[in-house]
Amino acid sequence: MKIIMLGAPGAGKGTQADKIAEKYRIPHISTGDIFRANIKNGTELGKKAKTYMDQGMLVPDELTVDLLMDRIAQPDCEKGYILDGFPRTIPQAECLDEALSSRGEKIDYAVNVEVPDENIINRMSGRRACLSCGATYHVAYHAPAKEGICDKCGSDLVLRDDDKPETVKKRLSVYHEQTQPLIDYYKKAGVLKEVDGTKPMDTVFADIAEILGA
Ligand code: AP5
Ligand code: ZN
Repeated sequence: MKIIMLGAPGAGKGTQADKIAEKYRIPHISTGDIFRANIKNGTELGKKAKTYMDQGMLVPDELTVDLLMDRIAQPDCEKGYILDGFPRTIPQAECLDEALSSRGEKIDYAVNVEVPDENIINRMSGRRACLSCGATYHVAYHAPAKEGICDKCGSDLVLRDDDKPETVKKRLSVYHEQTQPLIDYYKKAGVLKEVDGTKPMDTVFADIAEILGA
């Protein structure tokens, strides 16, 4: 099963993608997590990506598309995957479609997690992220067992550099301009599914699991 998670920054794509990955035993691939791992490891790609991410802008397609294509060609992707944060532009979606159709494959579901802009800033300011394993928490809605420490790997949790309110506003405007058109793109392809992302996390997941089937 090949699934794309769509939605504004902070809509809960990563939270839901983790749950889907666990239930359906397919990898969760987040381009944001891949960039953050590169930043942490001080790679050339990480240095380039950071300059865009810190400003709330998209990393250019030429740095993003090949990276994603290499990742989905790995053996663990044979049974499918969940893409979280990719595609983010129409050209990225077209590249993905071309690569898949050349292998006789296609996207099965594009799940759009809908959350109004007014809820997003509150979610982002309470988010805490683990830069070691990519896990995400929220101080009010999904707190770790021990404050400031990742339940999964024991590393410190941080407020992401791009989660400051000014940067979140920029990310939202970039989302509306460059990423929201993908909703129509996947609607036309007949694979779009919408879920209400303002509900509690487990309810959102139950709604997604109903769409995806057992
Ligand atoms: P990326 O890491 O993809 O960030 P994003 O899309 O902005 O999404 P987020 O990770 O911020 O949010 P999310 O929807 O996953 O929400 P989460 O589950 O954490 O990208 C970062 C940057 O990398 C981009 O700005 C760009 O520069 C670059 N980039 C990445 N991919 C790219 C690409 N393809 N092309 C170009 N550039 C790219 O949830 C948010 C918070 O809310 C959490 O604290 C969570 O616990 C909480 N929460 C979740 N669900 C609920 C709920 N139902 N109720 C209450 N709280 C909830
Ligand atoms: Zn961790």
